[in-house]
Amino acid sequence: MKIQPIILAAGKGTRMQSNTPKVLFEIANTPMLGHLLNAITSLQTETPLLVVGYGAQQVTARYPQPIAVQQEQQLGTGHAVAICKRHIQPESTVLVLYGDVPLISAQRLEQVIQAAQTGLGLLTTHLPNPSGYGRIVRNAQGAVTAIVEQKDATAEQLAIGEVNTGILAAKGEQLMRWVSQLSNQNAQGEYYLTDVIAMAVKEGVAINTVSANPNEVAGANNRVQLAQLERLFQMRQAEQLMLQGVSLADPARLDIRGNLQVGQNVSIDVNAVFEGDVTLGDNVCIEPNCVIKNTRIGNNSHIRAFSHIEGASIGEQVTVGPYARLREGTQLGNNSKIGNFVETKKARIGKGSKVNHLSYIGDTTMGEGVNIGAGTITCNYDGKNKHQTIIGDGVFVGSNTALVAPVELGDNCMVGAGSTITKNVPEKDLAIARGKQRNVPNWKRLTSSS
Ligand code: UD1
Ligand code: CA
Repeated sequence: MKIQPIILAAGKGTRMQSNTPKVLFEIANTPMLGHLLNAITSLQTETPLLVVGYGAQQVTARYPQPIAVQQEQQLGTGHAVAICKRHIQPESTVLVLYGDVPLISAQRLEQVIQAAQTGLGLLTTHLPNPSGYGRIVRNAQGAVTAIVEQKDATAEQLAIGEVNTGILAAKGEQLMRWVSQLSNQNAQGEYYLTDVIAMAVKEGVAINTVSANPNEVAGANNRVQLAQLERLFQMRQAEQLMLQGVSLADPARLDIRGNLQVGQNVSIDVNAVFEGDVTLGDNVCIEPNCVIKNTRIGNNSHIRAFSHIEGASIGEQVTVGPYARLREGTQLGNNSKIGNFVETKKARIGKGSKVNHLSYIGDTTMGEGVNIGAGTITCNYDGKNKHQTIIGDGVFVGSNTALVAPVELGDNCMVGAGSTITKNVPEKDLAIARGKQRNVPNWKRLTSSS
């Protein structure tokens, strides 16, 4: 069976109050259009047709894969489908989607496509407040006879709670014939796609409805509705995680803007934000207010509150934070520890090594079992170039040390607190590089003259 999706996305989205075309507004860091295209991908369809108009260049630059069909003037949803004619194969099943209804699942679309095999498949839903939507009109036998738009409806029709979601599927030959016969003699002077329902009924084609949960077909016409879709989407992800065995302190305070993979028995406290591809191993614990982006975290590791982690690879049994910042290229070996107010970048920290307080470790390779004292800084930048710091196994660096790169500390060496290290330290040596202390006995303090 050939399935031909058409996505209607030519409208400006005036109520968004923006120059950005509506379908590029994002839910969980992905444009609404991207969500729809993802759902379609799993259906194995023909290349989708994308009807573009307002901001067409922006839309096609972001999504070059679909076949773009230009709709110069937005004359209505029926017109938008009609102009796709030359791309439609008569025997295909055409699936019409609206760019501003992005949360529909592939499974539901599959049902609509199935419904179209013996008639016209139409996705409807029931809303407590159906205002603004097209109403589904049924006869005494319960069969659908028409869709009436809000502005054309009688008082009796306005009381109908079953509404059109906009999503339908029909045989290419029939749908293209119907849309070519539409008229714009209605309250809005538009060519309504919804008028094809009555045409189909007239030809004796069955209207097979599929019922959707209101949440999956909610549309975003303004930023209030967009924020509602974001919450719906996040709640759906939170529920999936909980069903996979993740403990969430509060499912309403979790944001996943990408892909989160989890092992067993993971727990996530409030206000965690995950972006890009994040993988959490078994028994990982994330404390409140952490932002974690494109990172892998190994089994039994613990991320303490207010940590910001990006582009890192964290081993097993590691503790990070509170208040740690791990930047791109940080690799933490098993059993290592990064404490509060520590920043790392392009830093390989060996097994069991500790950087517990107030440090910057950048462009560094550190061995195993190292202890870095509070306030140690790798001075990796000379104003022009970045340089490497290499620290061997078992090294002990005293507090408030500056390691001026390029510099190398040999295995098991020790650096005295307060040192500024500019030369390599051989294995097992002690390096001390600080001003010598001089004590003046019985020092008489100056007294004030007043
Ligand atoms: C439409 C339906 C209504 C349904 C509702 C569900 C029609 C006539 N009405 O109304 O029955 O309840 O959706 O959300 O279909 N578009 C184009 N070109 C056009 C006009 C619109 O591409 O000429 C696109 C828009 O960008 C949008 C989609 O089609 O993505 C729907 O258009 P919109 O104007 O939002 O229709 P509604 O008034 O919401
Ligand atoms: Ca709409």
